[in-house]
Amino acid sequence: MNSQTLREARKYEDIYEKLIKEEDRPAFHLTPRVGWMNDPNGFCYHEGKYHMFYQYHPYTAEWGPMHWGHAVSDDLLHWEFLPAALAPDEYYDKDGCFSGSAITLEDGRHLLIYTGVMNREVENGLRRDFQVQCVAIGDGIDYVKYDQNPVMTSDLIPEGSSPYDFRDPKICRKSDGTYRCYVGNRPEDGSGQILLFKSEDALHWEFEKVFASNRNRYGKMWECPDFFALDGKGVLLVSPQDMLPEGFEYHNGNGTVCVIGDYDDASDTFTEECNQAIDYGIDFYAPQTVLSPDGRRIMIGWMQNWDTTGFHDIHEPWYGQMSIPRELSVRDGRLYQKPIRELDGLRTHKTEYKNVALGEESGTAANPLTLYGISGRRIDMELKLRPLDHDKIYHRFIVSVAQNADCHTDIGFRPQESIVKIDRKFSGSRRAIIHQRRAKVASTDGCLNMRIIMDRFSVEIFLEDGREVMTAKIFTEQEAEGISFWSDGKVLMDVVKYDLIG
Ligand code: FRU
Repeated sequence: MNSQTLREARKYEDIYEKLIKEEDRPAFHLTPRVGWMNDPNGFCYHEGKYHMFYQYHPYTAEWGPMHWGHAVSDDLLHWEFLPAALAPDEYYDKDGCFSGSAITLEDGRHLLIYTGVMNREVENGLRRDFQVQCVAIGDGIDYVKYDQNPVMTSDLIPEGSSPYDFRDPKICRKSDGTYRCYVGNRPEDGSGQILLFKSEDALHWEFEKVFASNRNRYGKMWECPDFFALDGKGVLLVSPQDMLPEGFEYHNGNGTVCVIGDYDDASDTFTEECNQAIDYGIDFYAPQTVLSPDGRRIMIGWMQNWDTTGFHDIHEPWYGQMSIPRELSVRDGRLYQKPIRELDGLRTHKTEYKNVALGEESGTAANPLTLYGISGRRIDMELKLRPLDHDKIYHRFIVSVAQNADCHTDIGFRPQESIVKIDRKFSGSRRAIIHQRRAKVASTDGCLNMRIIMDRFSVEIFLEDGREVMTAKIFTEQEAEGISFWSDGKVLMDVVKYDLIG
């Protein structure tokens, strides 16, 4: 029997979803059914469909007592909303059902594991949020919270570790049928750590070990862990709070880190080798991955930056969207990301130009080049650049998108510094938020490939076959569909552009 709180949320979303027009949402990026969305939760493949749950506050477009929203998809691009899955309706989650994950049990039932938040007085009127891990089991639509929740409390964690920052369980099953769960936490040094728990039945958990330690290197608390083996390596994804930038890495305050290392499955041992930001743009956080039936590791992140969530009207019908699903691989100690291949099925109206010369008569700063058929706001566009004169490489190349008389968002490349920059300050933003971000690329010879995916309110740029990705929301009115190119030196450019139909 669903609680009153869940029934109310389901009734509310059912009514208010209908007021949102299809064209007011992105065409193939998941948005909340209504209200507010943050982290992806419970991303999984269950009974022939992908399921995505998400941190959800249906009643306003602002963060509030967390529910879990729910949607399913066959291709990760077209989503069907299902009724909200969880509401904060028990003593142990009364202040929120925070992030977590999902798994199909041996008997076919679907298990959600999430963080329950309880705000309690600690001393002298001071209140704190206590965090515990909880389970709900269901049929893919309705879920019943386990009667012995919570299944993990701070009694299980190492001495001195924080009971207030103990969240975001990510569950997986080992080949011997036992379960493991990675949970974000803070040790005594105030930094972050990932705790590993084990279980025979996904209900009774014991602490196994500290799986990874931040030791105050990359931000503080490590949120939303995910861990998997890929291409012979172990890959840990975490989202640290309060990061300091380092060179071109980690500029987002609350950012993302991918740690790649050696992994021994038998002993659950991860030995770090290298790390990098997952996304070098502005809006990307808390990603989760799923293993597709055909063996691809696919990641989706929240396409938003926590530091810029306070500047919109909370009465907007929806707020927050997910990134495009990305296929992951590891090559030469780096994480590579590509838009999922299902996106190819949305392509239509191919327009192609080869060997377009920029930086001479046309395609200059004073006279940017536009190309017939190259425009739009739901597009998949690939550019390949090469200098015409290899001894005298150009200094600067710019492609402007979402352009009209007032607006444009620029993607710039400075080959001599190996830097790509996204600049959305003229994207219609009326706020003094971060508008620019730079990424260091490997290219040093002026050759570069970039694939740009746009879906009404966002730009995702895949550089060098996915070696670096830059993601940003834009605020530009939909009529601004222009795209233009220029360079300050001689460049040859190939362009292939498709419209994407939702
Ligand atoms: C990350 C996060 C999680 C938490 C959730 C609450 O964005 O802070 O750690 O579970 O959001 O909505």
